Amino acid sequence: MQALAQALDMVEISFLGASTHHGKRIAVLCAAMGRRLGMSEAAVADVITCALLHDNALTEYILLLEGREEDSEHFAAHCEIGQRNLDKLPFHENIAGFILYHHERADGRGLFRLSEGNFPLGAELIAAADMFDVEWHLGNVAADTLPKLRESIAADTGARFTHRAGGAMLDALDADMLASLRNEEITNTIRKAIPVWTMEMDNPALISIAELVSHIIDCKSAFTKIHSQQIANRAWLMAEFYGYDMAQKIQLYLAAALHDIGKMAIPSAVLEKPGALTKDEFEIIKTHAAHTRSVLGDLGGLLTEWASNHHEKLDGSGYPLGTIAADLDFNSRLMTCLDIYQAVSEERPYHPRRSHAETMPILRDMADKGQIDPVIARDMDTVMAPWSGRDIDVPALSR
Ligand SMILES: [Fe+2]
Ligand SMILES: [Fe+2]
Ligand SMILES: [Fe+2]
Ligand SMILES: [Fe+2]
Repeated sequence: MQALAQALDMVEISFLGASTHHGKRIAVLCAAMGRRLGMSEAAVADVITCALLHDNALTEYILLLEGREEDSEHFAAHCEIGQRNLDKLPFHENIAGFILYHHERADGRGLFRLSEGNFPLGAELIAAADMFDVEWHLGNVAADTLPKLRESIAADTGARFTHRAGGAMLDALDADMLASLRNEEITNTIRKAIPVWTMEMDNPALISIAELVSHIIDCKSAFTKIHSQQIANRAWLMAEFYGYDMAQKIQLYLAAALHDIGKMAIPSAVLEKPGALTKDEFEIIKTHAAHTRSVLGDLGGLLTEWASNHHEKLDGSGYPLGTIAADLDFNSRLMTCLDIYQAVSEERPYHPRRSHAETMPILRDMADKGQIDPVIARDMDTVMAPWSGRDIDVPALSR
C-alpha cells in the first residue's frame, strides 16, 4: 500500500505540482486528526488507507482527458472512479464517500457543491489535509512557519475546512507534528502512525489490491491499458501449470501486477509519444525497471526481484542491470517471457493485436538467440495457445 502511495506521488508531482510523499503526509495528518476526534483505531486505519490512495484514479483521469484542457466535469471523474476502485478493497468500516468527496469544502464551493454536514467525516479530513498540503508543501516548510500555518488553518475553518477537520488540524499541528511531516522524516513517521495496520488480508483481498494497482499502472498510458493486468493473469496460469502452491501463486501474481510500477515515474509525454523515440527518450523509458526496484524496495523480497528483472535477458543484453543467466532465477526469467509475450501480442500504436501463432515465433527466435529461457518459452506455447486472441480473466478465488 505504501509502495503504491509512493508511485501515486510520482503522478501527482508531474500533474499537480504537489511535493513528494504527498499521500503519506495526508495520511499522517488524517490519522492525527481522526484520533483527536475520537475515531476508533479501525476507523483511523481506514482513513489512512483512503488518504494514501486518495488520488488513485489520477492516471485514469489523465487518460480520459486525452490531452484536452482540464475541466471540473472531468476532474470529478477522478473522485468517482477513485471511490469505485477502493470500494473493491477490504476495509474495517464503511468508507462510502471518502474518496468521492475528497474535493469538497465546508462552504459548499467544492467539486460537488456539498456543504459541511453533507459529506462524511473521512472525506472532511482527507479534503482538509489535501488542500493544506497542496497549498503549503509541508514536506519542505521551515519550522518558523508554524504560526503562519496555524493562522491559516483558523482562517480557513468554516470556509475550506469543516469545523471538525479544521479544529482537529489546529489541535494536531504543533512543532513536533510539523517536523514529522518533513520529506526526510515522513516515511518514518507513517510507520509509527500505523501501529494498527494489522488487517489480515486474505488471498482474494490481495488479488483485488493487485488488480486495482495494475489497473492504475496500466492507465498511465493508453498504449498499455491491459498490459499489467494481463501479465498478472498469465502469470497465474503459468504458476498453475508449474504446480505452485497458493502462496507462491499469489506472490508471482503480485510481482507480475506490479512489474511496471516504475512507469509511474516516467513522464507521460515520453510514454505516450506517438512516433519513434529518440535514444535519450528510450533511455528515460528504460529507467522504469530501476524505479520498480526502488519503489517496491525491500518490501517485497523475492517479489521485488522478479518484478524488477522483467527486462533482463539471459545473455546480459537486458536492462537495467544487464544481469546474466546465472543470476536470474526461474521466476525472473518467467517474468521476462511474460512481458515479451504480452507486449508482442497486445495492440500497440505500431502493431495490431497478434494471435498466439503470430506471437510465438518472436519468443522462439529470442530463445534461439539465448536471450530468454527456451523451456519457459516452450511451456508458454502450451499454456497460452488456448487463449489466442482473447483476454485472460482474473483468477477467481472464493472468499
Ligand atoms: Fe484529488
Ligand atoms: Fe492530493
Ligand atoms: Fe517494463
Ligand atoms: Fe511490462
